Amino acid sequence: MTSRQSRGGRENVSPVRVSGAGPDIQRLARALMAWYADHRRDLPWRRPGVTPYEVLVAEVMLQQTQVTTVLRYYDRFLATFPDLSSLARASEADVLRLWQGLGYYRRARNLQRTARELCKRFGGQVPSELTVLRKLPGVGEYTARAILAFAFNRPVVPVDANVARVLARLWAVPDPIERTATRRRLSLAGDLLAAAAGNGQVGQALMDLGATICTPRYPQCAMCPLADNCVAARNGAQDRLPVTGERAPVERLLEWGAIVFDDSGRVLLLRRKRPLRWGGLWEFPRFPRRDGEDPQRLCARLDRWGLRVHFWQVGASFTYQVTRFRVSLRPWGGCCGGGRVTGSDEHDQARWVRPERLGNYALPSPQRRLARLAKRWARELTQVATARRH
Ligand code: ADE
Repeated sequence: MTSRQSRGGRENVSPVRVSGAGPDIQRLARALMAWYADHRRDLPWRRPGVTPYEVLVAEVMLQQTQVTTVLRYYDRFLATFPDLSSLARASEADVLRLWQGLGYYRRARNLQRTARELCKRFGGQVPSELTVLRKLPGVGEYTARAILAFAFNRPVVPVDANVARVLARLWAVPDPIERTATRRRLSLAGDLLAAAAGNGQVGQALMDLGATICTPRYPQCAMCPLADNCVAARNGAQDRLPVTGERAPVERLLEWGAIVFDDSGRVLLLRRKRPLRWGGLWEFPRFPRRDGEDPQRLCARLDRWGLRVHFWQVGASFTYQVTRFRVSLRPWGGCCGGGRVTGSDEHDQARWVRPERLGNYALPSPQRRLARLAKRWARELTQVATARRH
């Protein structure tokens, strides 16, 4: 068998060739579940008696987000919205505030739409049929399978990156794992394992194995309960699997983040329109920046928005990543007499906010950094004003 395109340190390695039989599924299932019983990670969405709603919330939070990050949000979210009806009744602003920092905010809005739909049309219950789950906002194949498996103990396996890697090694799958056809094949392999185990926990067992032993680099086959039945390990091919396709290259962008103060020390916040990225969240004005650009030039751009602003100072740049963009954001401070923003295409509301009140607004993570700086600059401005008066 031959591997094709690969990435991430696997580019100049020899193709994967394997021989011998495939894995013995019954033995794999037994060994995996025995290992899981002793080594499972103790995570809140695995507590005994967890409800389907709690699994739904966990799986939506875990989309594109690491377990350690979700742990900082999960219990707090459930304490505020303990069931579908409390989430359905909440204001979107409250939901977004609890979600801020977790990213991919569309998930939060979709989760609330799902809660509203389930309360209206399904008697406040999470359904247990794949086709019904798949029609809910923000519930794709992966999340629907995760709910079936983890909330209803159905023998199916949701295939995330950890699971895909483990399965691709167990079966020595030579094709790029992000391809739809490969995903289908891996899903089928996972379901065979789940059927052999006869329960829905196989997916979480594979996730834990992938996170702790069958890691992307330096997999610890010597400690793996499945090694003697793993086609990749038997053939010494574990370091070359899974095969992955080319990723879109990271693009670098430069931005200004403008902290604009009015005469009474309030700062300007804008609310992003839907369906733009970060729609419904608030932010400081942002503008594209050129390398070495004179900060004074930003005044003219704010002027086009209807604001007369004087440049005050710039802060140290910091970077953030969003999808395939790596953005260097340079904080910019200016002062103006106040006024209304008339010209921004990307925003539907503007507000002057006291810096100590910024915590009441849901801001994307990089903007929260600007908010911290805004509070510091507000104190500096007060000191400058006081010194002038004396
Ligand atoms: N990632 C997605 N779902 C998960 C789960 N149930 N446990 C651990 N990691 C996960």
